[in-house]
Amino acid sequence: MTQAVQEALEGGTTYFAMNEKAILLAEQIVNAVPSADKVRFTSTGTEATLYALRLARAATGREKIIKFEGGYHGMHDYALMSLKPSRTADYPHPIPDSRGIPKAVEESMLLAPYNDLEYVTSLIEDHREELAGVIVEPFQRIIPPAPGFLEGLREATRTHDIPLIFDEVVTGFRLAYGGAQEYYGVQPNITTIGKIIGGGFPMAAITGSERYMAEFDPAGPEEPLLQIGTMNGNPIAAAAGLASMEVLKRPGTYERLHEISNKISGALGSAAADLGIPARIVGDGPVFDLVFTDKPVNNYADYLASDRDKQAQFLLNMRNHGVLKDSKFYVSIVHDEADVDLSAEAFSKALADLDH
Ligand SMILES: Cc1ncc(COP(=O)(O)O)c(C=O)c1O
Repeated sequence: MTQAVQEALEGGTTYFAMNEKAILLAEQIVNAVPSADKVRFTSTGTEATLYALRLARAATGREKIIKFEGGYHGMHDYALMSLKPSRTADYPHPIPDSRGIPKAVEESMLLAPYNDLEYVTSLIEDHREELAGVIVEPFQRIIPPAPGFLEGLREATRTHDIPLIFDEVVTGFRLAYGGAQEYYGVQPNITTIGKIIGGGFPMAAITGSERYMAEFDPAGPEEPLLQIGTMNGNPIAAAAGLASMEVLKRPGTYERLHEISNKISGALGSAAADLGIPARIVGDGPVFDLVFTDKPVNNYADYLASDRDKQAQFLLNMRNHGVLKDSKFYVSIVHDEADVDLSAEAFSKALADLDH
């Protein structure tokens, strides 16, 4: 990838105009992501989800958006609704995560607990006349979808012709080459992706079916949605993304990634069990964490009820034992058996160092 970036640098670092590398990257995305017909680039995931919500509103002519408690969609005003509240909300009213957000934004959002299909289905029914879309991380932070949750959400939104937006900024090209929608077999109307598609450089995108993406089309029948940015589709980031995808496309990549990931998360779970610590692995494949609770974790409220002080201490202890972890563990395709051993040793030490 470094070589691809160095070569791209020779051609100039930014053009503003569309360029060959970005077009090739868009083609790769369309080939990879099951629900993708067209692609619009942004630089960050925050921008991508902001545009996805605007697209849903423009396409439906309605305003309200359902998001899930604890779901992360970046840092714009609509995303900062019950992302990380210190208490659970009085559903469906979200709690703003920041000062400075207009009340009108708060009033345009409806909040649901993740994995509660019954609640979100009735919320959709009740608000169908004013609902522009539903945005969800198909795999929310570290919490996998309960069996039938994504399918049910798809069904409920399809019934009322409400666009379903999958925020795959984390899961895209990570759980599988085609993202969570391939992995879980449920297709949204609009998808946001980022991170991996820039190979470590700023690059993100909105993608979706022809029907929705046509809203951006200057040649379309309606006045097109404006979606402009100096760095959108930057050629260096596109070169890095393309090179990353070449590696990810190699046969066996995701099988190996999941195998190593399961070994690492398995070692973590075993280390906690050996020490008699009430904790459980929450996650799927390469994205997981140890949550200090003896109860199932199916949504943000379950997570909030866990021992988060202990989790913070564990994070620090892991760093002290040489393994970098932030809010969760991410396993990469460069990790190998040696990393499994190194992690296992660090897990045991970091957990043993916890205050009991
Ligand atoms: C699911 C999800 N959506 C959106 C974003 C925002 O992306 P960015 O940090 O590129 O703005 C993130 C960032 O981590 C994310 O995890």
